Amino acid sequence: MVSRLRVLQFLSASALALVLAGCGAPLSATWQGFPPDATGQADGKDTPRADAGPDCAQVKCVALTFDDGPGPHTESLLDVLDEHEAKATFFLIGKDVVKFPDIVRDEAARGHEIGNHTWSHQDLAKISVAAGQRELSKTDAAIKEVTGAAPTVMRPPYGTIREDHMKSLDLPVAMWSVDTFDWKTRDAKKTVKAAEKVVPGSIVLMHDIHPSTIEAMPKMLTDLKARGFHFVTVSQLVGDPKPGTDYKTGRQAAAGN
Ligand code: NI
Repeated sequence: MVSRLRVLQFLSASALALVLAGCGAPLSATWQGFPPDATGQADGKDTPRADAGPDCAQVKCVALTFDDGPGPHTESLLDVLDEHEAKATFFLIGKDVVKFPDIVRDEAARGHEIGNHTWSHQDLAKISVAAGQRELSKTDAAIKEVTGAAPTVMRPPYGTIREDHMKSLDLPVAMWSVDTFDWKTRDAKKTVKAAEKVVPGSIVLMHDIHPSTIEAMPKMLTDLKARGFHFVTVSQLVGDPKPGTDYKTGRQAAAGN
């Protein structure tokens, strides 16, 4: 009995020590921990960031995408997405990745997909292939430096890209099928309204640099969830996107699902 008591005393002392040790490491209020598959990310290999997600050939899926960040409003968007268990895709501007590395790290840690949106928001229809490649590779490197993994998809600024640029790409290209015009209206109600056009397989264009877009999200997510939608990344929606191919939509569940 004595030895058992000593074991118990030892265990409670260890537990107390763990609790005390925990006090020295304040956790961020928003920290959600790494996704279960995050262990493979730090080795620099281009492993997928998130799991396969729901089967979008069977259930209704939509890919919400946010361009031109990261910015000062992005963290509050991440909290709203978490509250609704929604995954999204962020198309980042390279020069802002180096300005807000913690936000980019948080986007990846919370299981969102990271895309390349060039270093300085260049129109790829107007610059040489070499200049475009510099814009993209600098951004690839910045994202990899910050998150441990290269981006898995790209979106050309203004949605314009020449054929010669397309051929030079080693990433799939994500366009969109639903434009919310959030950048133009800067009106949360109009942004919510625009998402009524979402159908299974839609890719929705938004911008997380505008407060009105973040303001629109709780209602948009609630409405789409009520219509049966699952919120997935572009790669999850498409399935297995191919480099140098552009996608305006992804897999579409059969009607009635
Ligand atoms: Ni843009």
